[in-house]
Amino acid sequence: MNLLNITDLEPKQIRKIVEKSLEFKKGLRTESLKGKNVVLLFEKPSLRTKLGFFKAINILGGSPIYFGPEEIGMGKREPIKDISKVVSRMADIAILRTFSHSTIEEFSNYSNIPVINALSDVEHPCQALGDLLTIYESTSLNFKDIKITFIGDGNNVALSLSHAILSLGGKFVICTPKEFGFGKTDITKTEQLVKKYGGSFHIESSPEKAVENSNIIYTDVWASMGQEKEISKRKIIFKNFQVNEKLLSISPEALFMHDLPAHPGEEISENLLEHPQSIVFDQAENRVWSQVSLLDQLFL
Ligand code: NVA
Repeated sequence: MNLLNITDLEPKQIRKIVEKSLEFKKGLRTESLKGKNVVLLFEKPSLRTKLGFFKAINILGGSPIYFGPEEIGMGKREPIKDISKVVSRMADIAILRTFSHSTIEEFSNYSNIPVINALSDVEHPCQALGDLLTIYESTSLNFKDIKITFIGDGNNVALSLSHAILSLGGKFVICTPKEFGFGKTDITKTEQLVKKYGGSFHIESSPEKAVENSNIIYTDVWASMGQEKEISKRKIIFKNFQVNEKLLSISPEALFMHDLPAHPGEEISENLLEHPQSIVFDQAENRVWSQVSLLDQLFL
């Protein structure tokens, strides 16, 4: 099994991963990675994903081997195809964080072992699994009754999260500046998921309207890794899309989520991570438990 896009998982697999994550969080232990080597090839920095995977691999009895941005030179020092073939012979699972999604796709084409996307420019499926776990444990609602409103940049995190909740029949609203929403292909995919699983997907231009009756209000940075140079331009374009106390007060029952790192003063107001509606640090911790559960189920 590979996890390149969140829709590589069937809804029942997503549910199973989420439910079992909670069992691991409550103390369940298995040795499903005993004797296995898990290689992490990262082209970009990471805190939660890397630490979460290291801990997850240790919990399951496996060994993590990490290569940072300077070490591999994917497609530069060595062709992606050759790296993938070598890794397949030496490791049991490959976890990749790349600039381009096509790097992970090419790697997986030549791989004989499971490949996991630990963030690309297109998707962040591991974040979406942790987010679903956080929503599952923080609300008493079924996923089909959950409305997630994402404010800000229609990026990798937004796309995986939308596909995740729509696969479970839930509702997703996205509110971005023009030109920063999902592309045509992504919208077609969201519409297919709505048709298949009965949820809903809406694009809303006003943040105040978008958050009405939401269960979850979610945001992420305005410039993702690799887009840092655009931040001064983006600060102007995104200035009306900040999530702040006033916006949260429109839906006082809603919970606030952010995948971190956060930039207070930009996509969120100062101290919003500590707001009573925030579940951001539970969300961060849950990256461990959802990744334990994902790895545990890879070889089933
Ligand atoms: N959208 C962000 C997510 C970071 C976890 C990025 O790609 O930089």
